[in-house]
Amino acid sequence: MKVLVIGSGGREHALAWSLSKSPRVNEVVCAPGNGGIAQVARLAPASQKDLNDLLRVVAAEGPDLTVVGPEAPLALGLVDELRRRGLLVFGPTRAAAMLETSKSFAKRFMQRHKVPTANYAVCTTQEEALASLDLFHLPVVIKADGLAAGKGVLICQTKKEAQEGIQGLFNGKLLGTMETSVVIEEFLEGEELSFLVLSDGKHVAPLVPAQDHKRIGEGDTGPNTGGMGVYSTDAMLDPQMRDWILHHIVQPTIDGMAAEDTPFAGVLYCGLMMTARGPMVLEYNARFGDPETQAILVRLESDLVEALEASAKGQLSDTELRWKPGASACVVAASEGYPGSYTTGHRITGLEEAAQIPGVQVFHAGTTFSEGRYLTNGGRVLAVTAAADTLENALGLAYEGIEKIHFEGMYYRRDIGHRALKNKK
Ligand code: AMP
Ligand code: GLY
Repeated sequence: MKVLVIGSGGREHALAWSLSKSPRVNEVVCAPGNGGIAQVARLAPASQKDLNDLLRVVAAEGPDLTVVGPEAPLALGLVDELRRRGLLVFGPTRAAAMLETSKSFAKRFMQRHKVPTANYAVCTTQEEALASLDLFHLPVVIKADGLAAGKGVLICQTKKEAQEGIQGLFNGKLLGTMETSVVIEEFLEGEELSFLVLSDGKHVAPLVPAQDHKRIGEGDTGPNTGGMGVYSTDAMLDPQMRDWILHHIVQPTIDGMAAEDTPFAGVLYCGLMMTARGPMVLEYNARFGDPETQAILVRLESDLVEALEASAKGQLSDTELRWKPGASACVVAASEGYPGSYTTGHRITGLEEAAQIPGVQVFHAGTTFSEGRYLTNGGRVLAVTAAADTLENALGLAYEGIEKIHFEGMYYRRDIGHRALKNKK
């Protein structure tokens, strides 16, 4: 098989790496990819935000399966276009991806299908939003309706902060575009859990659970990022709770989308808050998480291409994925300044030494390769990942790996997984 992966981050490096290990895959192409992905795939230049350009790459490459990584091409309708041409593609249609691309759609959908989530109000004018604030306790959560790359969620401790947030979203000062719809939401407390499943529109195959670390600073402080590190263990979700989530959250979502004639095939990522009232959905994503995917795929023992193909063909009912028991961890090395502004083009050293440590995989999130050297090319630069028998050992390996690596302004959190280790003691 020839498989085409769309995207250019650490998630796509992990997908391309896992796909390239399949005995059924003889070529992986990644569009546009990055410097590190070139180790496991041929790169095809493409603009990820331009539907015609992506269609051109697919037509030129003629893959047996296309795997869409990020949300932007889903929102453009890439999957719909490829399906219309009779091509095999892994990912949801544009209408199904609305679970991620519109928070107001997702909230109303959850209400229709009795999926547990925070109480909310959808407001289409600033006046309405300001008036609705009185319906909520503090802290209160204000969310931009559309895609905002992790920057559209404000957790407000005071009414004044919430009022300013609402004004900033509607007048365009916060995100650069004027919002026409904002979701106000009850603040939930608990541990967050990323629970991902593959679906073919009807059946589901769960992946191992993971916990992301969204804030830039140690101790979960500072602004939100795309994700600074992840761990995954068997112990983080017992089988009973897993079944509860499948029964009360995942299956009602898949059944609800099918009943509304927008069946959801691809990865359904349920961002959950494990509250005292039980698990509740914070958000859906219509794609693999980044960096969750890196930590999840180093634990996968089954053939990824078989599972993605089964999802794309509507044949997931007999798929049961096999996993390495134990744990995995992924630590992200970011450029100084991220998630704000940062510089790029810095030389990265120590990559080979890190990769030589048994059990360690260095996935590239934002790099280029030029004249024999890797250079930084993004906010999140590398995702150093390891699987092991215990979380302590997986974290130990990931940190041993990242300590070998250097670039100017390199920043990483030193406390990934620490909460899990503390809870155990
Ligand atoms: P989202 O993009 O909706 O996942 O929000 C980003 C992050 O904001 C989540 O991972 C949570 O840490 C936080 N968050 C979102 N909604 C809530 C909520 N209702 N209560 C508490 N925290 C939230
Ligand atoms: N790591 C969070 C996400 O992929 O949305």
